[in-house]
Amino acid sequence: MIRTPGIERMAQPDPIAGEEEEVDRSLRPRRLEDFVGQDGVKSQLAVFIEAARARGEPLDHVLLAGPPGLGKTSLAQIIANELDATFISTSGPALERKADVAAFLSALEPGSVFFVDEIHRLPRALEETFYPAMEDRQLPITVGAGAGARVVTLDLQPFTLIGATTRAGLLTTPLRDRFGVTHRLDHYAPPELAEIVVRSAGILGIGIDRAGALAIATRSRGTPRVANRLLRRARDFAEVRGAGRIDATGAGEALDLLEVDAEGLDRLDREILRAICEKFGGGPVGLSTLAIAVAEEADTIEDVYEPYLLQRGLLQRTPRGRIATAAAYAHLGLKAPRPAGERLF
Ligand SMILES: Nc1ncnc2c1ncn2[C@@H]1O[C@H](COP(=O)(O)OP(=O)(O)O)[C@@H](O)[C@H]1O
Ligand SMILES: [Mg+2]
Repeated sequence: MIRTPGIERMAQPDPIAGEEEEVDRSLRPRRLEDFVGQDGVKSQLAVFIEAARARGEPLDHVLLAGPPGLGKTSLAQIIANELDATFISTSGPALERKADVAAFLSALEPGSVFFVDEIHRLPRALEETFYPAMEDRQLPITVGAGAGARVVTLDLQPFTLIGATTRAGLLTTPLRDRFGVTHRLDHYAPPELAEIVVRSAGILGIGIDRAGALAIATRSRGTPRVANRLLRRARDFAEVRGAGRIDATGAGEALDLLEVDAEGLDRLDREILRAICEKFGGGPVGLSTLAIAVAEEADTIEDVYEPYLLQRGLLQRTPRGRIATAAAYAHLGLKAPRPAGERLF
């Protein structure tokens, strides 16, 4: 493993994120066949991987987009595993200077997978370093300073860049266009999440029956990471209650105590909807105003919470702000002030 400032900076996560990350790692699928769901993405990737292997060339650069916890990092590692390639990982915000990028790129072994998480947070000034690297495997670097400075171009080893982003829309067009393959991961259906829960329970040695797994799955916001987290919490409850296995009843009680409701919404989901309905008359309300009302970061609301609320039809985004739908009022047990259609205008 090479050591660069980027990697060191990533090595100090906060303790809670650290625990979550560790479990993520142990539960992470290693092969394409272990990766549940996203069938379209998987079958396309299988072909590209096979073709790249047959030609003995690196895979085209891949951009993976989608909300957090849907499997972007897992897929990136799987691609590296399937290619028998070295996996080198960093993230957009960890790359601060051109030298950080140069350190990574120049140290890549032939055929490596270079994973840049949160690539939309890469400083704009560094994007230009990626263009020639992605297109021509070249790294222009400035040597010396002042009048004696000159640019030398290093030839790089063939490599595959895999970028992950929760916000593909924030990528500049030139960067986005340099990815040969772009995949968007969508929320998972309950049967797929149940399969993931059963698989994770097996790895963690947790007893759970099919109905228990499905109960967790339907309340996991369509997100494998959430499903895995709820599974661990449900285990805690099952152990305290002396039940050996998680069944539907036990899972339901655990989720109720965790304040995860029947739609899979957690407390902040409901607070967001409630704020729009009660404080802002159903909307439209701007993201930053909403963020202040629920005391949460605007980015977190946009990346983590909104995608699921939008997908469930509880929230709408308009140019003038966020709107709570009739379904949101119904879910909160509130009376909609006017017919849902009128609120759009
Ligand atoms: N398709 C999947 N099949 C099985 N487990 C998955 C899948 N997608 C995600 N996971 C689980 O969810 C966790 C979070 O996934 P991760 O790849 O870190 O998501 P992202 O990088 O998109 O935030 C992983 O550790 C893994 O256990
Ligand atoms: Mg990730």
